[in-house]
Amino acid sequence: MADNGGKKAQLTIDGKTVDLPVMSGTLGPDVIDVGKLTGEGYFTYDPGFVSTASCESAITYIDGGAGVLLHRGYPIDQLAEHSNYLELCYLLLNGELPSQDEYAVFADTIKRHTMVHEQLVHLFRGFRRDAHPMAIMCGVTGALSAFYHDSMDIADETQRRITAHRLIAKMPTLAAMSYKYALGQPFMYPRNDLDYAENFLHMMFGTPCEDYEVNPVIAKAMDRIFLLHADHEQNASTSTVRLAGSTGANPYACIAAGIAALWGPAHGGANEAVLNMLDEIGDEKNIDKYVKKAKDKDDPFRIMGFGHRVYKNYDPRAKVMQETCREVLEELGTEDSPVLRMAQRLEKIALEDEYFVEKKLYPNVDFYSGIILKAIGIPTEMFTVIFATGRTPGWIAHWNEMISGSYKIGRPRQLYTGPQQRDYVPFGKR
Ligand code: CMC
Repeated sequence: MADNGGKKAQLTIDGKTVDLPVMSGTLGPDVIDVGKLTGEGYFTYDPGFVSTASCESAITYIDGGAGVLLHRGYPIDQLAEHSNYLELCYLLLNGELPSQDEYAVFADTIKRHTMVHEQLVHLFRGFRRDAHPMAIMCGVTGALSAFYHDSMDIADETQRRITAHRLIAKMPTLAAMSYKYALGQPFMYPRNDLDYAENFLHMMFGTPCEDYEVNPVIAKAMDRIFLLHADHEQNASTSTVRLAGSTGANPYACIAAGIAALWGPAHGGANEAVLNMLDEIGDEKNIDKYVKKAKDKDDPFRIMGFGHRVYKNYDPRAKVMQETCREVLEELGTEDSPVLRMAQRLEKIALEDEYFVEKKLYPNVDFYSGIILKAIGIPTEMFTVIFATGRTPGWIAHWNEMISGSYKIGRPRQLYTGPQQRDYVPFGKR
């Protein structure tokens, strides 16, 4: 925390003035420390935490107004252009970019943790064949805690590091297994001669009878999708991981909680919702009708993939994703697909329409990632699973940052609006 010369805020309630310390970070707005208000008999009220900094963190910085996203200080567009997903995982976890040797060791370590215990296969069999893959992911990720008793001491830094490696390495394996299970195809073992994204594609699309030939353009797009989703400061799922972790729960359980929070259509489920929405719109000629619906206050319909709690400008990840989307569709020769034409029309209308412009509703990362994933041949139910896989290093980096520092159990208070105390009335007298 930077020195801000003892700056203070003053709050006057019922004639009494309370001095509240003001804290400064390295970037971003100052924050008012309201911790001592409880002692004065008050809580603060901030539904949705729109004005609340829940923790100190040195991992990711977002300036939503300017459309800036930095991981450990490095802009996302530079990372997308020059780095790769695994290097970003290292950066998020360790705070600095690796040397070439450190990178080689890290990449090798991740490769050597990609298999999951054979007994985990039995767990998959317990799910209905048509189970949503996110339901499977919530279950099997939490279940990993039953397999790694050797690294469950959260106070031990080495054990925390091993857990981080295990989770980053095993998520693509579990993700691909959740897809294969629904198809009824055999699970594919990971291959150590492939890199992270290639390996995921191999486990998704390969079969024991036929190798999957990895297309480098698709593999690069897959790596970018993971990279662009790797972290996004205190979003709903990361905050969930921190809250669960603050109780001392084991890291696999915390990540499973994060996966559950990510599932919702207002968060990670949006990429799936974008494609479902395009399906529902069905044809370019219906777009105006749906834009009208989105603007109607009495209609709950929203344009999925538009708007963001923090970005009130173009999401910098969406810019990179848009470019990747173009590369993939060109490579696959599907740049003229009806879905893409609808998406482009929608994007144009929404960017020019007064309602969207005024409310600063720009396309977000999920608007394009859904289109890329569909073009690659990944079914819509898998989109959020891929988001979860990519977000795993962010979740662990935040969990680890919290556990290795000083933290309190997360325990918000409330503005109670229920009945005041009253006496119990027996059945006959109600
Ligand atoms: N379509 C139409 N209107 C919208 C949309 C949209 N996609 N998003 C927000 N609005 C309107 C909303 O109705 C409200 O209008 P008014 O001020 O008249 O009541 C105004 O814009 C502000 O919206 P809000 O819901 O108060 O904003 P929020 O910060 O609470 O919600 C959001 C942010 C992302 C949940 C929301 O924009 C949304 O539901 N978008 C669609 C779902 C989506 O794409 N989610 C993915 C987010 S990016 C991935 C991630 O990081 O998880």
